[in-house]
Amino acid sequence: MTGRFITFEGLDGSGKSTQLDRLAQRLKVRGVAHVVTREPGGTPFADLLRELFLSRETSRVDGVVELMLVFASRRQHLIEVIEPALASGAVVLCDRFTDSTCAYQGGGRGVPPELIAEVDRLATGCRAPDRTLFFDLSPEEARRRRRGRTADRIDRESLAFYRRVRAAFRERIAGDPDRFRVIDGAAPIETVAEAVEEALSDLLKPPGRDLREPKRRDRAGNA
Ligand code: TMP
Repeated sequence: MTGRFITFEGLDGSGKSTQLDRLAQRLKVRGVAHVVTREPGGTPFADLLRELFLSRETSRVDGVVELMLVFASRRQHLIEVIEPALASGAVVLCDRFTDSTCAYQGGGRGVPPELIAEVDRLATGCRAPDRTLFFDLSPEEARRRRRGRTADRIDRESLAFYRRVRAAFRERIAGDPDRFRVIDGAAPIETVAEAVEEALSDLLKPPGRDLREPKRRDRAGNA
């Protein structure tokens, strides 16, 4: 059996990582084999690339250089972690993947989509997730939520940059509506968690079982 490759996408501050952790906890309780990982990063070497990518100790970094760094990290991550986990039948929950590159380097930095597609073909063979959850939140609200966190190199970008990133995510969604599920990132945390369950229920449901917690039954056994 091959596993399921599920990615979590959104602006920084959209709540995707919190929801990924919550889903992982629920999968653990249910005994579902899963791997939690993220990009850039996910292997010791890719984590070093992540540090470099997010470091504030640099002058302005060119968008194509960013592109090559994230795809270098991604290829190593796929080879070392993602593909072996999927081959073993595990569910892979990955915080960001190629959609982030299209949104941040494409939309944000203006790297042409054809160039991104070319590097993607080279680095991953255009590997796509089985499902992608997009946590939608306005750039203004996302920024408010990031207040108090240490800002990395990308966090320091302008609201205009984040508006372009969000627009590019939306374009990706419009181009591949079957793979994406859009989740309202502004909703209360529990509502968002329920939306995550709903968005994955067909993919994660074991045959004959509902992914959600069993409903309480009354004495007559009615749900
Ligand atoms: P994170 O803060 O969600 O872990 O993501 C790290 C940052 O890297 C975030 O600002 C988005 C950015 N990023 C890109 O610019 N391109 C990419 O391909 C990926 C995966 C992340």
